[in-house]
Amino acid sequence: MPGFLGTVASGGNRFVLRISLVAAIGGFLFGYDTGVISGALLYIAPQLHAGTLAQSWIVGGLLLGAVVGACLAGYLADAISRKWTKFAAGVVYTLAAVGSAFAQSTGELIIARTVLGLAVGTASFVAPMYIAEQTPPRIRGGTVSFNQLMITSGILLAYVADFALKGVAGNWRWMLGLGAVPGVALVIGMLLVPHTPRWLMQRDRGAEARAVLTRSRPAGQVDGELDEIRSVLRTEGRRRLRDVFGSGARAALVVGLGLAVFQQLVGVNTVIYFSPTILTYTGLHANSAVTEALTVGITNVVFTVIAILLLDRVGRRVLLLIGTVGLSVALVLLGLFFALPDLRQHAPWLALVALLVFIASFAIGLGPVFWLMISEVFPLSLRSRAMAVCTAANWIANFLVSYFFLQLIGAAGRPATFWIYAGLGVLAVVFFAVRVPETKDRSLEQIEHDIGAHPRLSRAA
Ligand code: BGC
Repeated sequence: MPGFLGTVASGGNRFVLRISLVAAIGGFLFGYDTGVISGALLYIAPQLHAGTLAQSWIVGGLLLGAVVGACLAGYLADAISRKWTKFAAGVVYTLAAVGSAFAQSTGELIIARTVLGLAVGTASFVAPMYIAEQTPPRIRGGTVSFNQLMITSGILLAYVADFALKGVAGNWRWMLGLGAVPGVALVIGMLLVPHTPRWLMQRDRGAEARAVLTRSRPAGQVDGELDEIRSVLRTEGRRRLRDVFGSGARAALVVGLGLAVFQQLVGVNTVIYFSPTILTYTGLHANSAVTEALTVGITNVVFTVIAILLLDRVGRRVLLLIGTVGLSVALVLLGLFFALPDLRQHAPWLALVALLVFIASFAIGLGPVFWLMISEVFPLSLRSRAMAVCTAANWIANFLVSYFFLQLIGAAGRPATFWIYAGLGVLAVVFFAVRVPETKDRSLEQIEHDIGAHPRLSRAA
């Protein structure tokens, strides 16, 4: 039985599956902590007397913390290992979740959420990186995307928690504090998983690298893979941060940064954070809008599962291109819906359909493919720093788009706002078609070799 499920069901891959799921708990926290705040804010604002500025910082503090966390993790993942960096993120997650739950003032809450952001930024890329370095090429697309599945499940659970705790006293403290549970799970889980063979080889710990590979690869493949890693390490030598921007890694960096920025510029987080608001623009009552927004969260999870099943079969590029075309069409529809009163009157369901098409298209393409490809395209000696740069760019773009969304709606109007996003979606399709390579079925070392040999990147599988 070919494909992700068939390959995973066999022997050593179950070990890879287990450690990938543990590493992906970081993704769950990323999703939960970014998703929970919109609901919690409704109760925090009156209780802690938070004005508009304080509210923006309660939301934005996490995003800015994530930028700093990503940069720090770029060093830590090499210096103390991927495994211990994720362990540290788990500790910070747990402490900051408890800190947020007990905050007595907006100042304390902003500090706790910013510290939480450090962990979110760290885990957001060290999780996919850890999984990519552990996994055999044939199932790497699926296992790395467990992380995206956990992100989307975290967002969904955050919606559910916000919904379920509606009438409970002190509810926002529970909403924020509950994040400590997966935080503890991550801490314990990371104690139980091994280092990645790539990091061990970088540290000259070949015997340990062999032991890890032996658990996840057929006996005949271990030596070949170790030789490949050894050979890229020999040709690469030691590199510095400025080498990330040098000519050797430029093609890969353009791909990584393009994916990072376009992932946010198409407006995904305005849909994630503001879908209830967007739905109230259609005339829906706030309560039904929240319920309908839940269907957006569920669709996001379901289509991420579909992506996991397809990424190693049809490849990254096809899903990326189809997904980005699909979300651009959905954005054009959403703009038309707000531009044409007749349409609103005769087809009031169209807004929800457009939002669902948008999120489904994002979930099969740009959502998982960005995190997957930045784990694949960079040379080993630059991987952690280059991934940190792309991740920081992603969080900065996330912050700017979320921050300016309501202002953009105010200045340009609803139809134009969605058409601007659609235009950016079209640009993204062109960029992906021209620049993004296919990485399916190739080892990280082969990808590195191909990119080195063809600096503009081969698009062939
Ligand atoms: C993005 C997040 C987004 C999430 C939605 C992730 O890949 O990086 O910004 O909120 O997908 O599913």
